[in-house]
Amino acid sequence: TSYLETKSIGRNIAYYPVCESTQTIASEKASEQAPHGTVIITEQQTAGRGRLERPWDSSANKGIWMSVIIRPEISPQFAAQFTLVSAVAITLAIEDLTDCSPAIKWPNDLLINGKKVTGILTELQADMDRVQAIIIGIGVNVNQDLEAFDESIQSIATSLKMESGQEVNRAELVAKILFYLEKYADMYVENGFEPIKLLWESYNCTIGKRIRANMLRETVEGVAMGITNDGVLELKLDNGEIRGIYSADIHLMNK
Ligand code: BTN
Repeated sequence: TSYLETKSIGRNIAYYPVCESTQTIASEKASEQAPHGTVIITEQQTAGRGRLERPWDSSANKGIWMSVIIRPEISPQFAAQFTLVSAVAITLAIEDLTDCSPAIKWPNDLLINGKKVTGILTELQADMDRVQAIIIGIGVNVNQDLEAFDESIQSIATSLKMESGQEVNRAELVAKILFYLEKYADMYVENGFEPIKLLWESYNCTIGKRIRANMLRETVEGVAMGITNDGVLELKLDNGEIRGIYSADIHLMNK
């Protein structure tokens, strides 16, 4: 069993047996100058937050619920791709330690057999021209059995144990995720998104599919053509128009 192999990410860790949300704690700590690589991790959240103001079921002490503060020297316009970078890092870690191979649903949900196993929530603290901190919230369903999930999500959520039939050592998986997160975050800052985009594409299950994209003001349908170097999803609508989708909730129409 091997544990933390990183230089900076995870070298400063705050562990809570239970808390409301690691994301909220991490935001506060980031404003209070917590160093690059700080990790907030808990066994159980009483008010876990998902994307689009949704609750995130993290009541069981059988998952990985953590938030990572990174301070890359990039301009705020490049921050959004960190969400795709994180999805790749977590996918590789899961592949290394289990016999599961997750598929990435744009922008960053990890699915196994069509059900969600991991959610990522990234939040940005920035000035006009400089990123102060990116807070990457990671929720992985690891050792839950079906009963651990709220009934309302039992048909759309799964865990690594449910998919592989085996318990996974959570500490080892945390260390692996942080290892790949450091590797690909560094690569992104040095070389940009292109080398990572190829990896993201090789694991994705969105491109080529017919999808419905729910956005704040409208819902559109079409075929996902690809992602740009900025991580924007290009959708071909039925009238032939190509639309760039920056942020949306995506529904895959044909699995
Ligand atoms: C999503 O898919 O909607 C994102 C879910 C993100 C959940 C994680 S669990 C650790 C961190 N703390 C939170 O309150 N949320 C994130």
